[in-house]
Amino acid sequence: MQTLVVVGTQWGDEGKGKITDFLAQRSDLVVRYQGGNNAGHTIVLDGVKYALHTIPSGILSENITNVLANGMVINPKGLLDELKKLEGRTYQIKISDRAHIIMPYHMAFDAIRESKLKDKIGTTKKGIGPAYTDKAERSGIRMGELINKALFKEKLTEILEHKNSLAKLYGEPLFDFDEIYQTYSEYAKQLSPFVCNTSKLINEAIEQKKKVLFEGAQGTLLCLDHGTYPFVTSSSPTAASVPLNTGVAPWLIHGAIGVTKAYTTRVGEGPLPTELFDEKAHYIREKGHEYGTTTGRARRVGWLDLVLIKHAKRSGGLSGLAVTLLDVLSGLDELKVCVAYKLNGETIDEVPGLIDDFKACEPVYQTLKGWQEDIQ
Ligand code: IMO
Ligand code: MG
Repeated sequence: MQTLVVVGTQWGDEGKGKITDFLAQRSDLVVRYQGGNNAGHTIVLDGVKYALHTIPSGILSENITNVLANGMVINPKGLLDELKKLEGRTYQIKISDRAHIIMPYHMAFDAIRESKLKDKIGTTKKGIGPAYTDKAERSGIRMGELINKALFKEKLTEILEHKNSLAKLYGEPLFDFDEIYQTYSEYAKQLSPFVCNTSKLINEAIEQKKKVLFEGAQGTLLCLDHGTYPFVTSSSPTAASVPLNTGVAPWLIHGAIGVTKAYTTRVGEGPLPTELFDEKAHYIREKGHEYGTTTGRARRVGWLDLVLIKHAKRSGGLSGLAVTLLDVLSGLDELKVCVAYKLNGETIDEVPGLIDDFKACEPVYQTLKGWQEDIQ
């Protein structure tokens, strides 16, 4: 396939980094199309561990062009810190002039909102939701504006007036124009050589028969539209979102590989029907190192849920499936796999649209015999 998408089929952390890294070796371009530094993809090269949050997974190969497309929200400091860790290496990176910038007030309001919510979402507090809110509200700052001094000054002045009136309302410290303007102008200077129209870049590459890999962050159940709303992120990780978020025609996307763990994990709040609380959860969490790359939080653990995978296949459009971390389950006598849900006495095989219904779903399991040998 000339163009291929890697999509998480669960609540993120499915091992997408590993699959992307593997597929990236045969690609000319690797494109991140949504999310920001809420993602965490770990890649190990020659014994050195690289934790990537914003940068696409092709960055360690010098022949691959890594693209941060228009659908992303970018924390410039986070991105520059990641680039600093690559000092001494040769890499290619391009950033869309249309991608939105995560500003200090986005991170502040992310934390303030979470602290006030009764039913917390458990966000990464990276400012993702507020940045996408501003994008939809048409008050966001885009990369092309950040690197234009006059435009940035004008926009920031206007926006800060509004953000500071909100901060006053919440009784929070005000945002200082000079401080933000100075630091973000410095980031802009360092990032501007990479900024371009990435839709044009990707389309030209496709015309030249180059191979393009689209790297999804998060997972289908965290999708703003098809996920377990409101316990979701603020973008769509599905293959369907690739055309919009990159500026590539839908019919130029050839397929999508869904990535699933052989079990299920979730960080943050929200229902997880197959969740385990006993020593099996502990066993899987420790063996699978199920702690967040971005926040260090212990991940919640459950059995594999095929209703979710089926949902991801249909709503997110999958043409293949990659199963990761099967070896973590070695040593268990029995494994369970959820094949349907019981809801109000009825058996269903889909994810209900209402979160309260989803919360009430009880898993219907098939029990399988485990194995003892190491299959690593
Ligand atoms: P990768 O790419 C797992 C979760 C957060 C929270 C919800 C909303 O590593 O698979 P946000 O900060 O996005 O507003 O938080 O989404 N979340 C992830 N969970 N892996 C991720 O990315 C995630 N990115 C966001 O924990 O429940
Ligand atoms: Mg993660």
